[in-house]
Amino acid sequence: MTEETASENVEEQEVVIDVDEPEPTIEDLPGVGPATGEKLREAGYEDLLAIAVMSPAELSEQAELGEAVSAKIIAGAKKLANIGGFVSGAALLDRRRRVEKLTSGTSSLDDLLGGGFETQAIVEVFGEFGSGKTQIGHQLAVNTILPHDQGGLNGEVFYIDTEDTFRPERIAQMSETVGISSEDALDRIHVARAYNSAHQMLLVDEIKRMAKNIDVKLIIVDSLTSHFRAEYIGRGMLAARQQKLNRHMKELKQVADVQNALVLVTNQVHSRPDAMWGDPTKPIGGHIVGHASTFRLYLRKSKGGRRIARLIDSPNLPEGEAVFTVTSEGLRD
Ligand code: GTP
Ligand code: MG
Repeated sequence: MTEETASENVEEQEVVIDVDEPEPTIEDLPGVGPATGEKLREAGYEDLLAIAVMSPAELSEQAELGEAVSAKIIAGAKKLANIGGFVSGAALLDRRRRVEKLTSGTSSLDDLLGGGFETQAIVEVFGEFGSGKTQIGHQLAVNTILPHDQGGLNGEVFYIDTEDTFRPERIAQMSETVGISSEDALDRIHVARAYNSAHQMLLVDEIKRMAKNIDVKLIIVDSLTSHFRAEYIGRGMLAARQQKLNRHMKELKQVADVQNALVLVTNQVHSRPDAMWGDPTKPIGGHIVGHASTFRLYLRKSKGGRRIARLIDSPNLPEGEAVFTVTSEGLRD
């Protein structure tokens, strides 16, 4: 089974959930006691919607359960899963009207994105090592603090750092350049080091909690996939990994919508060109991550320190490319 077909089993769907409403869990399903719950979790099936769309044969095989029990569980999940509902076009338009745009500090990237990075969106930036993903994260963190008339969002930032590459010195450098004191900038950028993928996911809950008192406008997960990739190794764990990633992305999107904030996630590409599977220009996480992202930017290194960003699969913008450089002051045209 390839990554693509494996992730088809766990295709994500849009779910609208109230943040304060506790979601039903797999333990609420008929026929699921502690032992079955454990089996489901071990197989990576914690998400009711993901269970609801499975066939009894599939679930039975993946979670090592009887087919009759699997059928019962799936029927229960169909009832309990939040499948979402219809809202009026007018309500959607109203929500779209609240969308704000954040400048990257370069006109080429801003133009590529139709005027900047949009709130209520997840932007996935993927590319090989050193392509500038973390630098974009730092620059957007600083710019988010800027007032609206300077292309900012006048808000605060949560930065989930999985690779220990957040550098306050870099923030200080970039903020002084745009006229914010480094103390002010560092006060409004809240950083947490995520030690593993479970911790990374818990930190999103923490953001939801802290967002009650902090006007969060940008959430960065740098990198989205490194822990998942290191922990879920081999094809046998692929379905579980994709499930978790799917849930993580959904939770991030929910915060983006509720807070009218931007979510920026970084992702690496498959790094072994000699591998049997894994295209070296393809991002990790297959189309689970791709589908859950509103915008995808593919970064490449080019001659003379230039970086090329290509916009991929955008819902409402033409595909295109932007060229920029990374300087000590930050991103520049
Ligand atoms: P991985 O996390 O390893 O996948 O890479 P990445 O895509 O996050 O790369 P990152 O954003 O860390 O880019 C690193 C590159 O940015 C360096 O190779 C430099 O070219 C450039 N860079 C970083 N800091 C500075 C700086 O202070 N001054 C200048 N001129 N360039 C910098
Ligand atoms: Mg990086």
